[in-house]
Amino acid sequence: MSAERPIVVVTRKIPAAVEQEIATQFETRLNANDTPMSAEALEEAMRTADVVLCCVADKMTADIINTPGRRVKLLANYGVGFNNIDVAAAKAAGVLVSNTPEVLTEATADLAMTLVLMTARRTGEGERHLRGGQWTGWRPTHMMGTMVTGKTLGLVGFGRIARAVTKKAHDGFGMKVIFHDPLVPNGALGAEPRATLKEVLEESDFVSLHCPALPETRHLMNAQRLGEMKKSGILINTARGDVVDEAALVAALQRGQIAAAGLDVYEREPSVTSELLKMENVVLLPHLGSATLETREAMGRRALENIRLFVAGHPLRDRVA
Ligand code: DGY
Repeated sequence: MSAERPIVVVTRKIPAAVEQEIATQFETRLNANDTPMSAEALEEAMRTADVVLCCVADKMTADIINTPGRRVKLLANYGVGFNNIDVAAAKAAGVLVSNTPEVLTEATADLAMTLVLMTARRTGEGERHLRGGQWTGWRPTHMMGTMVTGKTLGLVGFGRIARAVTKKAHDGFGMKVIFHDPLVPNGALGAEPRATLKEVLEESDFVSLHCPALPETRHLMNAQRLGEMKKSGILINTARGDVVDEAALVAALQRGQIAAAGLDVYEREPSVTSELLKMENVVLLPHLGSATLETREAMGRRALENIRLFVAGHPLRDRVA
């Protein structure tokens, strides 16, 4: 790296306090109008900067990573998931990749619980009903949902976010929590392990996905697995969109194979399969898992910490490639 101040490109607008912190330490190119960067703009960044602070919406493909004349040596991802980056290509090219774990655990777990409650209590539908001027007053059989307390929550994956969900669901809502994670054989925090995913799907009233997007987890929730859920089962996804086969999910909902779904992430973000938009029993949020000011600032500071360590020639705190 040259003796001049290292150049950091920040691909999207991040909380102002963190933008300022980055700008005081590095030659920083911010995205003032917050428009998505085109492939050409990302290539230009790869050629002219030392670090790109990118996020889930930036597709850091092998072509972009291998931009001829590349100067960038670190992709500091603003997010814990890094499936937007071709990590194998980065490794092969000697480009480091970092992420921002831990700081978004509670916010994402809160959002998973939000979706559990919203789907169970039909709150999206209820709000549309009221705002649409259809509410005629209280009546005993109006818009009945289902209880959360006492029900079984099945977690697919048992990492940090799933554990935070366990605490909220088990201690806060009196739910029985079970999980399947091939890497975690023993229970913890009141959650009981199940040897197979099938057992979790068959036993759970709510199934919440908490596994990373990997080739092995692509379309994990396919037609067969959705069919293994209870007919009254509700699917919650705050992980990554391509863990669910969205077409199979639409079919399962249309056939009444499962009762409802609460989604924060989609296979082809920002586009959402049009049939889902018409279903009252589906809650759809725009990838808000980590969207609190406190969390988004903490994510920025964690990315900045990795950039600082990289510039100082130290090992990264959160190196993923
Ligand atoms: C994450 O951190 O993975 C969030 O989904 C935003 O990318």
